[in-house]
Amino acid sequence: MSPHRWTRRNVLLAGAALGSMPLAGITREQRMITRPIPASGEQLPVIGLGTYSVFDVESTPKQIGSRREIVDLLLGAGGNVIDTSPMYNRSERVIGDIISSGAPRDAMFIATKVWTDGRDAGIEQMTRSADLMNTDVIDLMQVHNLRDTEVHLQSIRELQELGKIRYSGLTHYRAGAHDALEKSVREYRPQFLQINYSLAEREADRRLLPLAQELGVAVIINRPYQAGSLFRAVRGRELPEWARGFAASWGQFFLKFIISHPAVTCVIPATSKPQHMRDNLGAGFGELPDAAMRERMIEFVGEL
Ligand SMILES: NC(=O)c1ccc[n+]([C@@H]2O[C@H](COP(=O)([O-])OP(=O)(O)OC[C@H]3O[C@@H](n4cnc5c(N)ncnc54)[C@H](OP(=O)(O)O)[C@@H]3O)[C@@H](O)[C@H]2O)c1
Repeated sequence: MSPHRWTRRNVLLAGAALGSMPLAGITREQRMITRPIPASGEQLPVIGLGTYSVFDVESTPKQIGSRREIVDLLLGAGGNVIDTSPMYNRSERVIGDIISSGAPRDAMFIATKVWTDGRDAGIEQMTRSADLMNTDVIDLMQVHNLRDTEVHLQSIRELQELGKIRYSGLTHYRAGAHDALEKSVREYRPQFLQINYSLAEREADRRLLPLAQELGVAVIINRPYQAGSLFRAVRGRELPEWARGFAASWGQFFLKFIISHPAVTCVIPATSKPQHMRDNLGAGFGELPDAAMRERMIEFVGEL
């Protein structure tokens, strides 16, 4: 059992550090929706945090303080997944700085990636990621964009044996790679799959999401807002009346479409703004759209 697993106590401590529940309308008794990781049964909160570009900042007290506020909000609301990569320039170092500044590492589920060629370079990169993030154990190590998959998955499994990594995964962000991902998932059986899926990019629900369910692979969703394009598509529009029962904002509308898919374990919207983090976290609570409502959401976005 890892020393870094999510515990209610740690989350409460993070919440206490904030002084109050950070989300309007959410009481302390309400818990964020969680989903089990099929490989272990460990529960993962459905709303996490992506760090691509938004955590690529200088390690100044001001920049680290503002990113720490976002992480504190995540932990205070019962979330824990933070996704990064050595490809995201300074992001891993910034996560390390946030942990050094006192954010509770044990309350986080840190997911990073290996993005290089060859066994030695991969091991070196994974070791460096752990150093940069000031952590002994990385919760999830993913092969970034299927780069040298077989070689890195072998190393990841060896590092799992040593207790340095808890889970293995594969990622991609384009529908054009879904066939290759499907092949790799069948061949290598990772414990996690990270893919793009949103109201604007629904290709994953044809084959990959059902496959993950069938094989018992946890699914993390990237690009939930299509890197922000979905907000531009609804600019100037009011949230429809029929969506107000489950969403208080466009962000929650988009995220709840994703987490209401039964194969999805967690979604990782990226943000540089505390008010957007609050908004995103709100999607982890309350009602989720049912199958008929999901069809209505697809139709609505298709007509934009
Ligand atoms: N190959 C891979 O493994 C891969 C590829 C792509 C992405 N990812 C992971 O997935 C994460 C998410 O994907 P992404 O970063 O491409 O895009 P995204 O999460 O779909 O969109 C991020 C954009 O949405 C804005 N935003 C966030 N919350 C908002 C809100 N509530 N209201 C309005 N705007 C909001 C952010 O701007 P503000 O800063 O203004 O909030 C940012 O510009 C990445 O950060 C990364 O961790 C992995």
